[in-house]
Amino acid sequence: MQLLDDNGLMHFLFPEMPGFDYGFNIYGLRNGSGVLLIDAAFRSQARAVNQRLKEMGLAVTHVLATHFHNDHISGLLALPEGISVLGSPEYGKTLSKTLPQTIAPVSFTEPFRFGRFTLRFEPAPGHSPCSVYTLIDHDLIHAGDNLMARSDGRRILPWVEREGIANHIASLEHLAENHGNRTVLLSHGKSIRGEDSIAREIGLRLHYLNAVQHPSPTLTLKEALPDHAGNWVCTEFFHQLVRIS
Ligand SMILES: [Fe+2]
Repeated sequence: MQLLDDNGLMHFLFPEMPGFDYGFNIYGLRNGSGVLLIDAAFRSQARAVNQRLKEMGLAVTHVLATHFHNDHISGLLALPEGISVLGSPEYGKTLSKTLPQTIAPVSFTEPFRFGRFTLRFEPAPGHSPCSVYTLIDHDLIHAGDNLMARSDGRRILPWVEREGIANHIASLEHLAENHGNRTVLLSHGKSIRGEDSIAREIGLRLHYLNAVQHPSPTLTLKEALPDHAGNWVCTEFFHQLVRIS
């Protein structure tokens, strides 16, 4: 784990382990000695972050779950019961674990203030029904897993269930049209800066999602991708989605 300072945020970076296609970012916002984490990742990762914060005289008080897939919330099992867990009101559609903490649904109309930070939330379903965008002040947005990548620059194929494809497309279009001037933080992969880069990264995913939305029986991965398959990992998601192998 590396602790980086990214736009004044704490950034705990867990690079990809050998054999794994994705690493993890946990971002931290500080309010005095309290810290709000964005995502809790897996237990070992949350434990490492918690320990590092303790060594710094800090403590986790809140965790915002960008969505409730296991790689984002299993770490809650390694964190104290008393912390506040924030997430989409739709969390019950995805959550498959019993957590020690109580979940407080976020508001999509009222801002949430944490120390000097003002957070706003928007529903961003697609990757999961409970995905949210988190706008941090005026310059950052956390996109959860609506965009995913590796630290070596290769992209992770969008993961989506068939019934979520239309929503995933709409959420990405919303991000491009409304927030392309912000730096985009991701749970997996490097943050994306600059309107051209953000539009390009979103466009690549939209190409794929549009291709798989109404696939012909003979659609191949090569046809669905906007560029060379070697630029992508987790290509098995395509076969799972279109039920061909
Ligand atoms: Fe994830």
